[in-house]
Amino acid sequence: MAESTTTIAIAGGSGFIGQAIARRLSRLPGYRVRVLSRSPNRARSRLESIRADFVRGDLTDPNLLESAVRGAAVIVNAAQFDGFPVENPRLGLTFERVDHLGCVALLEAAKAAGARHFVYLSGLGADEHSSHPAFRAKGRAEAAIRRSGLNYTIFRPSIVVGQGDRVTSMLARALRFSPVIVLPGSGQQQLQPVWVEDLAACVALTIKAPQARTFEIGGPEQMTLDDLTRLVMNVTGYRRPVLHAPQSLMKLVATLGERLPRPILSRDAVSFLLVDSVCDTKPLVEALGIRLTPAREALAYLATRS
Ligand SMILES: NC(=O)c1ccc[n+]([C@@H]2O[C@H](COP(=O)([O-])OP(=O)(O)OC[C@H]3O[C@@H](n4cnc5c(N)ncnc54)[C@H](OP(=O)(O)O)[C@@H]3O)[C@@H](O)[C@H]2O)c1
Repeated sequence: MAESTTTIAIAGGSGFIGQAIARRLSRLPGYRVRVLSRSPNRARSRLESIRADFVRGDLTDPNLLESAVRGAAVIVNAAQFDGFPVENPRLGLTFERVDHLGCVALLEAAKAAGARHFVYLSGLGADEHSSHPAFRAKGRAEAAIRRSGLNYTIFRPSIVVGQGDRVTSMLARALRFSPVIVLPGSGQQQLQPVWVEDLAACVALTIKAPQARTFEIGGPEQMTLDDLTRLVMNVTGYRRPVLHAPQSLMKLVATLGERLPRPILSRDAVSFLLVDSVCDTKPLVEALGIRLTPAREALAYLATRS
């Protein structure tokens, strides 16, 4: 008798974290990955080596979602709006619309599909009562998941690094082409970089044992943004002077930037970039038995590129 296959639908499966998750899950025997994307052909071209299906799915279009997740037992939400963390309300690109309401729409579709497990990529600091729209939207999405009656796993990552990330890839590019590096704020914000492959491995470990769980996840070391920048300098071999853009200056620039037809910076994005993002990984390590990869190892790919 043929073995049955469990379908895992991944919203945001074409993104930085979603791709790592899709690759990892596509290798699990007995599972079939389905990537939801607003542009399935582009998603397929990014993930052409993996065994998966690619379908149209848009978190802001509930009608599309229902058919996109039909038959899926596991749903993963790794989506975030284009231009994150700079909102563009005119185009509906906001934390509330995509992070919160988009997650609620996916949750409804998941319930209608009879899914048994919902996995959500949230973030450290998620809090439905926060005055900041990013943390509030993620907190509201988490609250909706907890109320849904589905089994769920919520991951709240610190900064996620690896090939294709934004922060360290951008730093490496800037080191190569710019005479100085300008960092937001004092450079003293605390981070805990986690390797994208470790995060994907954790998702794979929880797929097999659905429960109602929330994990904070970071790497094995806490460091400042300045430390992370120095690490990228060490790995790439490029050294540049570092300047710090004070918060007051950034907010002033942001006040102008958010008025542009396509905002390039906003005051909320500035405060998002300046918060500490660290956690205790002991509960995750004990529950999943995973070894978290040091940042230097996670960033090794930058050395081969430069
Ligand atoms: N990267 C980090 O350091 C980090 C840290 C903490 C938490 N997180 C969270 O982890 C999640 C994934 O982050 P990421 O860095 O991988 O994001 P990303 O690279 O920007 O990818 C975002 C994905 O969202 C999809 N998307 C955007 N709008 C959508 C919509 N309306 N409907 C359906 N899909 C939509 C896009 O897919 P298509 O264009 O193919 O539709 C894209 O693949 C986010 O929730 C983020 O907040 C990330």
